[in-house]
Amino acid sequence: MSSILAVHGSPRGERSHTRRLTEVFLDAWLARHPGAELTRREVGRAPIPHVGEPFVAAAFYPQPAARPLHMQADLALSDELVDELLEHQLLVIAAPMYNFGIPSGLKAWVDHVVRIGRTFAITEDNGVAQYQPLLRGKRALIVTSRGGHGFGPGGVNAAFNHADTLLRSALGFIGIEDVRVVAAEGEESDSRAFQASCAAAERELLGLAARL
Ligand SMILES: Cc1cc2nc3c(=O)[nH]c(=O)nc-3n(C[C@H](O)[C@H](O)[C@H](O)COP(=O)(O)O)c2cc1C
Repeated sequence: MSSILAVHGSPRGERSHTRRLTEVFLDAWLARHPGAELTRREVGRAPIPHVGEPFVAAAFYPQPAARPLHMQADLALSDELVDELLEHQLLVIAAPMYNFGIPSGLKAWVDHVVRIGRTFAITEDNGVAQYQPLLRGKRALIVTSRGGHGFGPGGVNAAFNHADTLLRSALGFIGIEDVRVVAAEGEESDSRAFQASCAAAERELLGLAARL
C-alpha cells in the first residue's frame, strides 16, 4: 500500500475526535511508508454539493459514451471524486455518528463515488438487475466516534447504527470488501469512560498502521 486517501467527514475542526484519531493513524502509517502519497478530501468543514436531478440524469444516461457535453459537466465533481478514489490503494474515512447515520457532507461523497459505470455496473438476468462491483484490491479504514455507547457489533444499540455500517455496505457494493472499523464511544458520558475508549481506539489504530 503506497497511497492513502483520507476523507474527513466531521464539521468540527480541532474539537473533532474522528479527525484527531485519524491523524494518529496517518502519522503512524506514514512513518512506516516513507514517500507514500497522502491525499485529503474535506467533506465535513467544506461540504460538497449533494447529488441532484442533473447528476442522476447524466449518471444513468443510457449511452454513456455519447453523453452530451452538458451532462459530462454535471458529472465533473463525481468524476473527480471517483478518480481520486481509484488512484489510492488505502482509504481512511473519519466518520462521526450523526443521528444514527453519517454527516450529510460525507453522505454526499458516498452518493458521488458509488457511480454506475465507474465503480459498479448493472447487468440483467431474466429481467432482474444484477450488481457488479468494479473496484479491486483496495482496503478501507473507518474511524468513527459516537456520543452514546453500545453501537458496535453485539452492543445494546447496534440496531441503531447506520453510520459505519452504511459505509461498509456502500464500500462493499463497489468492491472494497476489506474494511476495518475503529470506534470511540461515549463522548456524551462520563469523561473518564470516553478517554478510556479513545485510548483503546488509539491502540487499535497504531496496531492497524503496522498491518494495513
Ligand atoms: C448533529 C449531531 C448528531 C449526533 N447524533 C448522534 C447519534 O445519533 N448517536 C450518537 O451516539 N452520537 C451522536 N452525536 C455525537 C457525535 O457522534 C460525537 O460528538 C462525535 O464525537 C462527533 O464526531 P467528531 O468528534 O469527529 O466531530 C451527534 C452529534 C451531533 C453534532
